[in-house]
Amino acid sequence: MLIHSAAQLLTPSAQPQRGSRMGELSIIPNGAVLIEGETIAAVGESADLLRRYPNEERYDASGHAVLPGFVDPHTHLVWASDRAAEFEMRLEGKTYMEIMTAGGGIQSTVNATRSASTAELIAQTARRAQDIFALGTTTAEAKSGYGLEWTSELKQMEVLLELDRQGPLEIQPTFLAAHAIPSGFGDRPDAYVQQICAQMLPELKNWWERHASKRPLPFVDVFCEKGAFSLEQTRLIFTTAQELGFPLKVHADEFENIGGARLAIEMGAVSADHLVKTSPEEVRLFGSSSTAAVALPLTPFGLNELEYTPAKAIIAANGLLALASDLNPGTAWCGNMQFVIALACRAMHLTPAQAITAATINAAAAIQREEQLGSIHPGKQADLLVLRVDDYRHLAYRFGGNLVKDIFKKGRLYQ
Ligand code: NIG
Ligand code: FE
Repeated sequence: MLIHSAAQLLTPSAQPQRGSRMGELSIIPNGAVLIEGETIAAVGESADLLRRYPNEERYDASGHAVLPGFVDPHTHLVWASDRAAEFEMRLEGKTYMEIMTAGGGIQSTVNATRSASTAELIAQTARRAQDIFALGTTTAEAKSGYGLEWTSELKQMEVLLELDRQGPLEIQPTFLAAHAIPSGFGDRPDAYVQQICAQMLPELKNWWERHASKRPLPFVDVFCEKGAFSLEQTRLIFTTAQELGFPLKVHADEFENIGGARLAIEMGAVSADHLVKTSPEEVRLFGSSSTAAVALPLTPFGLNELEYTPAKAIIAANGLLALASDLNPGTAWCGNMQFVIALACRAMHLTPAQAITAATINAAAAIQREEQLGSIHPGKQADLLVLRVDDYRHLAYRFGGNLVKDIFKKGRLYQ
């Protein structure tokens, strides 16, 4: 398949970008991409590629910008039911953490998710997967975390693997049993941490080897926050996970800074996410670290809070900044990466080019997929978006809608 005559064929570089290079997009006017099977085979000017590949099936992209599919490196895609009533409580002045400590919040979604059958959970999750795919997310990380006991956590992992198998959205699973202290463990959180370390993580490793051995191990994530898991509990879970070979992620500094980002950097986590309350000194640590800093602007937006991740400072410190949606039923039921980009440009002062880099190649690095995803280069997976517009800046300039016209996922066209 030869995609040709694109008004703009734009891509960040093939490797993750930091610092002042982060806003450098390569833009080929009247550009073309040759796809062979699932892979990008050539990129260049239309005149050249049309001449070299005269017999290829053609896709005319004239009048349209073409860019890499979005990678969303932080979602909670799989859950049952909703929390619309809590949203109203928050509008009336209750805080997210107050609702959570009173037994609502994550625990209320846990109750619904535990009692949903696998088929029901697949049906509810598949609708969201289809929605975000149509909005341009071609690969998403997705977390468990609404089971908080082994069989329900495993049920969510199975749902994610099944939906990944069905496609077209590609899903990178994460195990987040450490999302909240389950009711029943309220006065002995360490016993739950012990259960994660001594039972769930070894069981997960065994299960993976028996059922998903061809895939890399999932990430292990912890909600490191006052009211969820302490720094010491996070360290314990991370140490156990690392010994078993799991790559790490963390929810850190979302409401209060208890040191989660620093710990993630220290332990070589793949990413640290949220980072709203991260200190300037910790921001500097990202500059010399391979740990990606993942900003989730929909979360403060969804909670109606005014403080966002210091994304400009992370870029200035040479950190690896990525953007994600945090799609979840509590703080941000929105998986629209176009809106994430538009909001990042306003609330965190990124340029459209920086935001696109953060939502593609840098987002791919935040899930260890930068070799295959996140840019338009020969050898990479053919995951591309054709926009309704001819200038990529409209992705940031307009907001709230869908500017994606057509999607190529692993070389296949979805219209
Ligand atoms: O990333 N902070 C923890 N987890 C989610 C919210 C999950 C929920 O409220 O259901 C987040 O914001
Ligand atoms: Fe989250």
